[in-house]
Amino acid sequence: MTSDDELIKRKQEHLDLCASDAVAFRETTTGFEHYSFLHYALSEVNIDEIDLSFNFFGKVIALPFYISCMTGGTDETVNINLKLARVAKELNVPLGLGSQRYALDSERFNSHFDLIREASGEVPLIGNIGAAQVVEAGIIKKLSALITNSHINALTVHLNPAQELFQKGGETNFKGLLTAIASLKKELGIPIIVKEVGSGIDEKVADELLWTGVDMIDVAGAGGTSWSGVEILRNGGDNQHDFWDWGMPTTYCIRKVNALRASYNFLLTASGGINSGMDIAKSLALGADLTASARKILRELHENGEPGVVKMVYDWFEIVKKVMFLTGSQTIEELKMDKIVKKQDMF
Ligand SMILES: Cc1cc2nc3c(=O)[nH]c(=O)nc-3n(C[C@H](O)[C@H](O)[C@H](O)COP(=O)(O)O)c2cc1C
Repeated sequence: MTSDDELIKRKQEHLDLCASDAVAFRETTTGFEHYSFLHYALSEVNIDEIDLSFNFFGKVIALPFYISCMTGGTDETVNINLKLARVAKELNVPLGLGSQRYALDSERFNSHFDLIREASGEVPLIGNIGAAQVVEAGIIKKLSALITNSHINALTVHLNPAQELFQKGGETNFKGLLTAIASLKKELGIPIIVKEVGSGIDEKVADELLWTGVDMIDVAGAGGTSWSGVEILRNGGDNQHDFWDWGMPTTYCIRKVNALRASYNFLLTASGGINSGMDIAKSLALGADLTASARKILRELHENGEPGVVKMVYDWFEIVKKVMFLTGSQTIEELKMDKIVKKQDMF
């Protein structure tokens, strides 16, 4: 099997495993269940006037939400991305592409990227590359070409050490990663986003990244999809494995990274187990600018198609509006003003 075949096979196995809940965290939760909103009986909010639109690097999007990175656009997966692209266009939210590693050394997929751009209309497209590729020699030149060829408006670097550690043949040498990310920011001329894949980013990691000028941190915390879990299953293990639940809960990551606002200007995305409107409302109240979801979107796409995903996301944001109404928050900025408490503080 060539390394390209290997990559394609792995991607397909990831998609298959993520079509069920078998890869959910077993014990670690997102932490959203520990928070409650403070009811505000004197609400003067007009729910019909709530505006959820958001300025995403100079482009107005309809909701503080994006479809998180899942598939890149190989022959086998381009159809999923075309579906997600149409959903993103309908919702007017950004679409995150999955790892584009396979396209770094080949222009063979450019026609797929043309199709994805066409299907997504004008919404921001977010490219994706792994930490293991970022540290390779000559990456800047390859990424410059990829940005043009895949029409992306921002680039995400995914940090996935736990996944690599448990993946057969995974990359376990990330020497030079921070310096490499710093040079992407200096050389590429588009917004640089750094995300995890479900083990979370806290204030220590975010501080180092933001120091290099990175534009957005997507915490991708624990409690949703376990990517060490995905690889453990692929190796024949089960969810009793010591590292199945490795990671920091999404709520912890949001709070910690949000505390860096005084020092840096950046966007903060909450993801990792965002599976409901209440999760989104709590993320925003805890300080996130944006929210994102991956596996839940994929599962809804499998079960109810593109209209199902569009409806699900709209329903989520109807819940966000109801929370805003009941907490006296006309704007998301107001929702962030002491509207949520830890449940333990209510007793
Ligand atoms: C099928 C699938 C494939 C994924 N592939 C990628 C990828 O290529 N690059 C990436 O940055 N994240 C990838 N992810 C991780 C997600 O973007 C996300 O960070 C993680 O699954 C946690 O979010 P969730 O709990 O909403 O699934 C993938 C997720 C899924 C479900």
